[in-house]
Amino acid sequence: MLLTDPGRELLARIAAAHPGDLPGLAEATALRRAYPADLVAAAMAQHELRLTARAKFSRAMDMVFTRGGYEQSTSEPVAWHRARRFAGTARVADLCCGIGGDVIALAAGREVLAVDRDPVHARLAEHNAGVYGVAGNVTAHVADVRDADLTGVGAVFIDPARRAGAGDGPRQRFRAGISEPPLEWCFGLATDRGATDRGATARGATARRVPAVCVKAAPGIDTSVVPAGWEAEFVADGRDLKEAVLWSPALATTTRRATIIASGDRGAPPAAAVVHALTPSPGPGVRVAPPGEYLYDPSPAVTRAGLVEDLARLLGAWKIDEQIAFLSTDAEAATPFARTLKVIDSAPWTEKRARARLRELGVGAADLRRRGLAGDVDAIRRRLRLAGPHRATIVLTRVADRPWGLICADPGTPLARSGAGTG
Ligand SMILES: C[S@@+](CC[C@H](N)C(=O)[O-])C[C@H]1O[C@@H](n2cnc3c(N)ncnc32)[C@H](O)[C@@H]1O
Repeated sequence: MLLTDPGRELLARIAAAHPGDLPGLAEATALRRAYPADLVAAAMAQHELRLTARAKFSRAMDMVFTRGGYEQSTSEPVAWHRARRFAGTARVADLCCGIGGDVIALAAGREVLAVDRDPVHARLAEHNAGVYGVAGNVTAHVADVRDADLTGVGAVFIDPARRAGAGDGPRQRFRAGISEPPLEWCFGLATDRGATDRGATARGATARRVPAVCVKAAPGIDTSVVPAGWEAEFVADGRDLKEAVLWSPALATTTRRATIIASGDRGAPPAAAVVHALTPSPGPGVRVAPPGEYLYDPSPAVTRAGLVEDLARLLGAWKIDEQIAFLSTDAEAATPFARTLKVIDSAPWTEKRARARLRELGVGAADLRRRGLAGDVDAIRRRLRLAGPHRATIVLTRVADRPWGLICADPGTPLARSGAGTG
């Protein structure tokens, strides 16, 4: 209904009057005099969704979404990053295309067959491709992906949906077997090595195999389900871990990868986003020693990819405990793969000592991070009775298997090291 002439006109009218907020009650009443009430309700809800969608899409105010389609869609910077790896493929199928978050990036430079069994989503994928000027490269098809004709398709990208009742939250979404279609079926689409036996016999998979497959999965995926020879890439936008992407052998260039997309200006063209990649770099084991002058909290993309030791080698850092994913150096090493903290105080953790030291340092506000130690962070914060002008990060962790506390600041902040700090 929103893509009819009156629907488009109404959406444009609301957007022109309210580029950043919602119409008030009186305006909504006035709109209902000019348009059918159900169209006004749909347009108001769509306008609200578009405002939210600006977090993911630079052209959100011209796009059309369903709520579910928006929530499951890939954001522009992440979709553009992924699409680059299809550079050598002239025709790609986006199976489970949703509202087209990935279609808009994939179709910039190649033909895309966009398949979804939800006719509204297939239509919106077409519309949204038009918003990005790439509709000419997109053929939208309403079908179950198991029945899609993949003749002439060089690669498949598939972003399966969470099956109803599979549990809430992204971590639940792609555990083997609970996505729709199941991950095993997705893996079985690939003709190259590594497809699981179960996938290969899944309905439609053997008949419709393609040379290269890329599967989007939840970041919490159990990596033991990833077939041998596939690459598991963990993608973070800034500090936020967004997804795992599984590349079949024809598209894989490593076994594991941590990708950080620098969260820059949302108005900048997505192709201009700065992307950092960390891949395995075998080398000597990383030593374990107490914290030095700087502490590094690796990006969750690095920890999920199992690349903490590789990052340590890159930074010339050591681990502060065999089991804990914090690294340390004495000289500051700039890195996009970890949050760097300047260590102000480092000592075995007791609340009494920490309270006195925080008081001395004038710390009145703090982020508390706990890793490897039990305890209620809010209760600890209350008992620390913080007071003073400075802000700090308090890290509660283990060093040589002992409870350890660090008071840290962002490098370059006024919180200065004072007194006999480290120990
Ligand atoms: C996670 S969303 C895709 C999001 C999309 N990549 C984006 O960025 O907008 C999953 C989509 O898969 C579709 N879907 C689920 N099972 C399907 C099936 N068996 N055949 C076709 N489409 C399916 C749903 O209708 C939904 O639109």
